[in-house]
Amino acid sequence: MSFKKAKLIAAVAGAALLVGGLAACSSTKTATPGATGAAAAGGLIGIAMPTKSLQRWNNDGAHLDELLKAAGYTTSVQYADNKVDQQITQIQNMINQNPKVLIIASIDGTALGPVLAQAKQKKISVIAYDRLINGTSDVGYYATFDNYKVGQLQGQYIVDTLGLSAGKGPFNLEPFAGSPDDNNAKFFFAGAWDVLKPYLDSGKLVVPSGKAPASDAQWTSVGIQGWATATAQSEMDNRLNSFYTGGKKVNVVLSPNDSLALGIEQSLDSHAYKVGSAWPLVTGQDADQANVKNMLAGKQAMTVWKDTRTLGDQVAKMVGEIVKGQTVTVNDTKTYDNGKKVVPSYLLPPQVVTKDTVKSALVDSGFYKAADLGL
Ligand code: BGC
Repeated sequence: MSFKKAKLIAAVAGAALLVGGLAACSSTKTATPGATGAAAAGGLIGIAMPTKSLQRWNNDGAHLDELLKAAGYTTSVQYADNKVDQQITQIQNMINQNPKVLIIASIDGTALGPVLAQAKQKKISVIAYDRLINGTSDVGYYATFDNYKVGQLQGQYIVDTLGLSAGKGPFNLEPFAGSPDDNNAKFFFAGAWDVLKPYLDSGKLVVPSGKAPASDAQWTSVGIQGWATATAQSEMDNRLNSFYTGGKKVNVVLSPNDSLALGIEQSLDSHAYKVGSAWPLVTGQDADQANVKNMLAGKQAMTVWKDTRTLGDQVAKMVGEIVKGQTVTVNDTKTYDNGKKVVPSYLLPPQVVTKDTVKSALVDSGFYKAADLGL
């Protein structure tokens, strides 16, 4: 962490202490204890989500809120507009309310050490939700989908669909990665790149923009800060304008998630790419509604679906185990080293969804109603 950032965090934490007890600037949803007193007995659970701007985090927050209230807890659900200092203030305010457990989907996984030290002092347990919290021993557990597997599924889909293992190619590839401050993004990229790299080495995949990281470790060179759709769109515009002149066409875009894919697809649209006539293969992740519609319209080939309901179920179970002093269920104690400790984790399986499986995977499971997707 830079000195400047450390100072900012200290200042924000200090200011938050002064205003402790005041409502945080984003929406607070604190349930009132039921007449039975069940909620009071369960205690408060603080939930910190990164942003409302992405559909998945709204689903995540709402599902956790519902499950925990049904289990008798009081909840405080906070969204931080993707602003690190705002999230720290929100966590600080929740700590001031003495929650039993904090569930945190961090914005910058390296920025929460100081505020979590205060949680530790008050014996508040912390679960890192979806994204690992780095550089602190004050995080108890981590629950997520298998992030490396997400990337592998994207890479393998490209290999299989283009027929790369059968020797087809060369194809023009443009790779993108997620936000440099999100620990998941490096796992997504590494999973995909480990599958694709042999085909770059053999020349069956070429990157006309030259923006091909030399190794997994160089992934931030193609990272899109804050997972912003608009930034992905302008980056794709730049690559198309500069490197795809004279009739050269991009054949495949490795996009780590749906918010980037949306910007990339808008860029392709504005550069006269047409569905049905060499529209490139674009990958994604999250099964966001707009992207599922784009899959049905032929603009996105696949998405890696993470049924966030199962993640919420798992985390609600962990909360119950923590509060009751039981052994917390985990299934991975090796992968997620945060620099201070290997955080005991529960990894859930992600799955590929394509146009052909939208109905069976997303509608039949109740994740979407057919009408949400125009089906
Ligand atoms: C999540 C993805 C999401 C991305 C952007 C990642 O940490 O795992 O599901 O697309 O953040 O919000």
